[in-house]
Amino acid sequence: MEISDKRAEIAVIGLGNAGLPLAAVIADRGMAVLGVDINEERCWQINQGANPIPEEKGLGELIAQHGGRSLIATTDFEDARGCKSFIVIVPLLVDESNHPDFSIMEKALQSLGRILKKGDLVVLETTFPPGTTSGRVRRLLCESSGLAEGEFFLAYSPERIMTGYSISRLREFPKVIGGTDEESGLVAYQLYRQFISNLHLVSSASVAEMTKVMEGCYRDVNIALANELYKICQDLGVDFFEAREMACHQFCHIHLPSTGVGGHCIPVYPWFLIKEMERREAFDKCRLLHTSRIINDDMIHYWAERILLQCLRINKPLSDIKICIKGITFRAGVREFYHSRNLALAKLLCDRGLNVYVADPLLDESEVAARGFRSINPDEADLVFDPFQLSFEPGRASQD
Ligand SMILES: NC(=O)c1ccc[n+]([C@@H]2O[C@H](COP(=O)([O-])OP(=O)(O)OC[C@H]3O[C@@H](n4cnc5c(N)ncnc54)[C@H](O)[C@@H]3O)[C@@H](O)[C@H]2O)c1
Repeated sequence: MEISDKRAEIAVIGLGNAGLPLAAVIADRGMAVLGVDINEERCWQINQGANPIPEEKGLGELIAQHGGRSLIATTDFEDARGCKSFIVIVPLLVDESNHPDFSIMEKALQSLGRILKKGDLVVLETTFPPGTTSGRVRRLLCESSGLAEGEFFLAYSPERIMTGYSISRLREFPKVIGGTDEESGLVAYQLYRQFISNLHLVSSASVAEMTKVMEGCYRDVNIALANELYKICQDLGVDFFEAREMACHQFCHIHLPSTGVGGHCIPVYPWFLIKEMERREAFDKCRLLHTSRIINDDMIHYWAERILLQCLRINKPLSDIKICIKGITFRAGVREFYHSRNLALAKLLCDRGLNVYVADPLLDESEVAARGFRSINPDEADLVFDPFQLSFEPGRASQD
């Protein structure tokens, strides 16, 4: 359906890795969607039918079909004035001391408040510390719109996608939604039912917020456990992976060890609870979350030591040994660097005076250089470390 045939009733604010797949899925259900994003280049691409996130499976087809037609992107919030429902997915990060940084969200909500009308619905999808939607978000929207509490509907539904699998996740994975009051929950549920098939209404926005934060905490703690068990196995001379295979069953799932946890989600969400508990002077209640964060972040020191030990086995002066890190993105197959422990590991090795190079299948030489590293063909290195497989290979150069 052309947008000119039917005025968009839904606006998706923030067309990033999370917002764009959602907007495309809504458009694919036959609804007209207006995407609002401050990134002009991205809006232009979408309106041309071009997919700005090529690694997202299935998104290209949806954008080619709906971009510039039932999915129109704009940088101007005024274009969304006629919409009745607004879904907001802009980032919430943590600052250097791990406190949530609401600055991006606040700007988006101020712009939205200027066009919000009585009876409109606002649904937040960004992962929040529980209580944010009914507290800070509601307050901001009331201030910027001049509307009173209860004059607009307000709800929360966590985005549970994973870059690369977002379309299938949106179509199949259970999605949770909850209102800041009963009516808001019902109104939001009615809207989302039109494009989400596996939808669950919960009793409040805070429950929906906690659902997502809990998931992140579960992953972080379990990855920390796997990392700790892996290190113990190494000391004991036990094959971790063989033991893990036997240990896992219906009631036991041991995660995979790693160089740590990166990305916008898992390393961020535990801090939402840790900082809140600190604020309440109840740090004792979140010690496991805090310890897990430290264990995972410290894994780069463990791997730096292992790499150094491997170097010492090579018959060359340390300063001549070329070390190749085979990947500096935070996860294999995803071109994202936020909180990348692989990038942090490469930097740590450089800081220790080692000769570090990068071979990342997702990045060309200039992209590697932009991160401060030299590229190398792994065959030309003395030692190759693959941070996704946690494996070492002697490079051909070490055998010269
Ligand atoms: N990407 C994921 O895998 C994922 C998974 C689950 C949850 N989330 C949640 O979604 C949030 C957003 O993540 P993302 O990956 O989409 O981020 P992103 O950086 O890919 O995209 C954010 C988009 O918001 C736009 N934006 C910023 N300020 C704006 C404003 N004032 N008005 C309109 N647009 C604005 C940016 O230009 C950008 O296109 C995260 O903070 C997280 O809470 C993301």
